[in-house]
Amino acid sequence: MSLVLRLPGEKTSRIPGFYKLPIKERLEKVADFAGLTDEEKALLLKEGNLDFKTADIMIENVIGTMAYPFAVAVNFLINGKDYMVPMVIEESSVVAAASNAAKVMRRDGGIKSVATDPVMIGQIQVIKLRNPWYAKMQIIEHKDEILELANQQDPILVKLGGGAKDLEVRVVDSPRGPMVIVHLLVDVRDAMGANAVNTMAESVSPFIEKITGGKTHLRIISNLADRRLVRSWVKVYKEDIGGEEVVDAIVDAWAFAAADPYRAATHNKGIMNGVIAVALATAQDHRAIEAGAHAYAAHFGRYEPLTHWEKDEDGNLVGSLEMPMAVGIVGGATKVHPVAKVSLKILGVKTAKELAEVMGAVGLAQNFAALRALATEGIQRGHMKLHARNLAVMAGATGDLIEEVARRMIEEGKITFPRAKELVEELTSKK
Ligand code: MEV
Repeated sequence: MSLVLRLPGEKTSRIPGFYKLPIKERLEKVADFAGLTDEEKALLLKEGNLDFKTADIMIENVIGTMAYPFAVAVNFLINGKDYMVPMVIEESSVVAAASNAAKVMRRDGGIKSVATDPVMIGQIQVIKLRNPWYAKMQIIEHKDEILELANQQDPILVKLGGGAKDLEVRVVDSPRGPMVIVHLLVDVRDAMGANAVNTMAESVSPFIEKITGGKTHLRIISNLADRRLVRSWVKVYKEDIGGEEVVDAIVDAWAFAAADPYRAATHNKGIMNGVIAVALATAQDHRAIEAGAHAYAAHFGRYEPLTHWEKDEDGNLVGSLEMPMAVGIVGGATKVHPVAKVSLKILGVKTAKELAEVMGAVGLAQNFAALRALATEGIQRGHMKLHARNLAVMAGATGDLIEEVARRMIEEGKITFPRAKELVEELTSKK
């Protein structure tokens, strides 16, 4: 046992049975540890649109909930259908940018977006093999039985047209020597699929051990969901965005990302601003989407942008996006979080495939908005306007005073909290 020396009054985070306590008692422990005030405790205990009972089931050690702005991006026409897109995000300008971009993407039926079948990969690692190459063949030889075994786990999924469809086997060289990696390709229909895939991967591993004589180790979904892609594309007419000069400026901005991973990371971050905001509103596993996106961006061995922007023969801008999109509308938090259910209703999507198509389109629009702003006026003007407004609110401005304070700070080129406070005092005393 290690001995921890503590100064008098120093607190410990070692609290046996913390997880078993009711929410309020957990909060008391935290309040004691961190010196939270009554107001701070009350803030965490403010029950919003996620009730505590549900929150307490969703994750462990809950001591409250936290609200984020929930907005809707408008103007989206995707595959000829109008959508209002729920977005949850803490960053200003993103929703406005998406809506503005969607506005110039409404011609010819809007943004086109097509997702592949919802096929996820379950990985089974097989180690301790004397003959990995021969083991690979043994697994392939028993493919039908393996798929059959996997499908026995989920007859409902199979009935819906999903289930384990195929199997691939690779011998991978690793720091611990060669190992065999089996990929179970599972059509997960309207689910994100992690549960179904993990269960199947676990269920087939004893059989794989039996036929190969090896030992199965990890059995887990891959977030590099390169069999579950969304492809979105759009034509933006030059006259709608300020002419061919702007088209060229956007293509040059994209080329920077295509040539330089330092820029590509930021370029893709802009895409994910839109994608993840929709993912949060619909309670997706957004970490899985992020992981898939960035791994896919590097799948040719170099980190690249997830979009392409080009100029067509008429001088118009044509853009396309291709990325994994592992999203679900059944199971997981989607069906547990009451707001996620409302988000899906606002979206009106009928399948996970349709949700993926909307999210691809949003990613493409978001990327266009960022590149257009960066390549023309620069991003800061819009940002600073919102920042100035936020500062005005923080300084106590309400109603028309918010715009007035923000405008004055922008004119002066001094957008700071002390200046906002001064202006609020000055302008309120005048009234
Ligand atoms: C900011 O959240 C996102 C951008 O940096 C994206 C980009 O640079 O393309 C504006």
